[in-house]
Amino acid sequence: MTQSKSPATPLRVGVVGLGVMGKNHARVLSELPGVTLVGVADPDQAQVEFVTSRLGCAGFSSLEALLDAGIDALTVAAPTQLHTSISLAAIARGVHVLVEKPIAHTVEEGRRIIDAAEKAGVTLMVGHVERFNPAVQSIRQAIAGDDILSIQITRVGPFPPRMSDIGVVIDLAVHDIDLIRWFTGSEIAEIQPQTNSIHAAREDIALLQFRTESGVLAHINTNWLTPFKARTVHVATRNKYISGDLITRQVTECFDYKPDGSYSMRHLSVAYAEPLRAELVAFVDSVRNRTAPVTGGADGLASLDIAMRCLGEHQTAVTPLKIAAGGRG
Ligand SMILES: NC(=O)c1ccc[n+]([C@@H]2O[C@H](COP(=O)([O-])OP(=O)(O)OC[C@H]3O[C@@H](n4cnc5c(N)ncnc54)[C@H](O)[C@@H]3O)[C@@H](O)[C@H]2O)c1
Repeated sequence: MTQSKSPATPLRVGVVGLGVMGKNHARVLSELPGVTLVGVADPDQAQVEFVTSRLGCAGFSSLEALLDAGIDALTVAAPTQLHTSISLAAIARGVHVLVEKPIAHTVEEGRRIIDAAEKAGVTLMVGHVERFNPAVQSIRQAIAGDDILSIQITRVGPFPPRMSDIGVVIDLAVHDIDLIRWFTGSEIAEIQPQTNSIHAAREDIALLQFRTESGVLAHINTNWLTPFKARTVHVATRNKYISGDLITRQVTECFDYKPDGSYSMRHLSVAYAEPLRAELVAFVDSVRNRTAPVTGGADGLASLDIAMRCLGEHQTAVTPLKIAAGGRG
């Protein structure tokens, strides 16, 4: 099923994994023009019934049954540990894949998915949905062509109701690692991570500092220890300071700095769009037109690689400087 489809032929899609994200994928796909949501799959029958009763598509208890129904493209929204096996099974059947972020549980597994998609000639997109958030797009537009100096991102919230063995760096910070790479158009060259596990087996708090190859300093503050959700981005350029709230979608810009310390400030316009819808439209376009997806496998892998390095690095103890008595000056 790898040949391109004419716009007149609906693209036959499926969704596997019907938790928080998968339900949303199924809802949006059922509403997209030029797309037929053929079916959804999840071993949890209650999840399948919840979705099929609302959207009127077929429901299956296994991926194989969904693939047998005949689909061109699949959204993978099962737990991250299953991304590789599910994506590889779909790709082996010539099915285009949109896999939720992070691309996989490990860098090696992510690479296997990319290699398989390349060999099969199918589209592979990774669901880095924040790139489709209108507030993020407004920030990126505001800093385009400017000399970026620093980026500070906060992504915090309460403990997720269902805990897997994925920690906050792989689950949340990977979004922001992707944004830092996207905003700067540069790869991350240096990493200084601090992580800790307060309530979970894996890290549930992380403060991550980076320097990009282009020299931008970036900082991510992420945790599952905050009673409310917050997602903010601050970018300092040589001429501006941009602040964005990714939840309320308010973006402000400070500019026109004066020698007396005064400056101007304005709200930037932010389009109204559901990020997931925009992501799925981009995926369908890239499948139909055989063009490279906005967030392809290589992007997903690069961001996962940095996240994994953050986890490896934090175990390296730095020997504290010995300061001689009276030596502080
Ligand atoms: N892009 C985003 O902003 C975003 C947000 C949340 C989650 N995610 C990603 O989406 C994925 C799913 O996260 P979630 O929060 O929806 O998880 P979830 O726990 O709410 O749902 C996972 C679903 O997968 C099902 N499942 C389990 N084993 C399966 C199997 N073998 N085959 C098919 N389905 C199976 C479960 O029954 C459950 O319904 C994760 O990779 C996560 O990182 C992305």
